[in-house]
Amino acid sequence: MKTEVLQIHATHPDPGVIRHAARCIQEGKLVAFPTETVYGLGANGLDAAAVARIFAAKQRPFSDPVILHISTLKQLSDLAVEIPDIAYRLAGSFWPGPLTLILKRSPRVPPVVTAGLDYVAIRMPQHPVALALIEAANLPIAAPSANLFGQTSPTLAAHVLSDLEGKIDLVLDGGQSWIGVESTVVDALSAPPVVLRPGGVTVEQLRQLIPDVVVARRTPAETPQAHQGASPGQLEKHYAPHARLILFTGPLENAQKAMVEMAVAETAVGKQVGVLVAEQDKPLFDDIPVMFSKRFVVNRLEEIAAELYAGMRSLDEQGADIILAHEYGSHDLGLAIYDRLYRAASEIRDCS
Ligand code: TXA
Ligand code: MG
Repeated sequence: MKTEVLQIHATHPDPGVIRHAARCIQEGKLVAFPTETVYGLGANGLDAAAVARIFAAKQRPFSDPVILHISTLKQLSDLAVEIPDIAYRLAGSFWPGPLTLILKRSPRVPPVVTAGLDYVAIRMPQHPVALALIEAANLPIAAPSANLFGQTSPTLAAHVLSDLEGKIDLVLDGGQSWIGVESTVVDALSAPPVVLRPGGVTVEQLRQLIPDVVVARRTPAETPQAHQGASPGQLEKHYAPHARLILFTGPLENAQKAMVEMAVAETAVGKQVGVLVAEQDKPLFDDIPVMFSKRFVVNRLEEIAAELYAGMRSLDEQGADIILAHEYGSHDLGLAIYDRLYRAASEIRDCS
């Protein structure tokens, strides 16, 4: 299959390009498109065969359900039933935006979307291209992140192509996804609601609306539970680069010291060592032949999140054997960053 690539303006999408992409969705084809979090791989969310094609292209197991993307609240009541009031309040505060709600599935939603569960994940994205596409298709669009299963999510069209070229019909290239980590997944059926995956909407923001919101612990031993049964897609290793990623946790200075020690030891035995994301770490490695990911601004969690996956991909492309990274705390976007680093990691070094 030849994958068509069309450029599209992120804030003023060309209506002709949107119409073409919407027609592809209506015909059951696969269209990758930018959202504010990461690129999605979209198909008609009401067409089981089209959704099945997403799983085939990504090599994703059918046990991992996908999110339905909508552009109006009217669609919400078509796709979910017995919607609790708290869900409307969350939607009112955070949609359009990086929040996904787990709700009770309407019979209209094909089982392949929800991996056979009675629960469906729904989100209204904020990206003008995504909203325009959903509206023009006049359909909910099922879309996981547009990467091969288990790999890092794409924040650029080039990342989508490197994983999926020849396997999907169309890529809308709208530039960089500005948040860079996926949406926050909230189980809106539990009382109080439970954060199943930290993401672009922070726990601090959620707490302003729901003071007692629960955050599911994210360790391999304690897989967070969806409303019923484990939330799929919460595999131990996920969102991972090809190189071995080593995550250093604990106080920054300790973590930096341990990273330098490992860089010295590993480069001495001929390993290609990459350092992920922190501009502030660069001077520490002055005399060590390591490679760096893209530029980062110190103490700006937004920038770190936006460059996290691109950084992993760039170090992979530079040929890193191992990637060293430290955490950024658990406040605000730090929690989502920690979550993704944790699951990308082959090894955790506790430096406290
Ligand atoms: O920001 C995002 O959420 C991006 C963009 C494209 O919207 N999408 C994304 O989709 O990250 P995906 O498929 O890579 O991740 C969806 C997450 C998975 O962790 C999945 O297990 C969870 O949502 N999920 C989906 N349906 C669910 C359900 N019915 N119950 C529990 N968890 C569900
Ligand atoms: Mg994904």
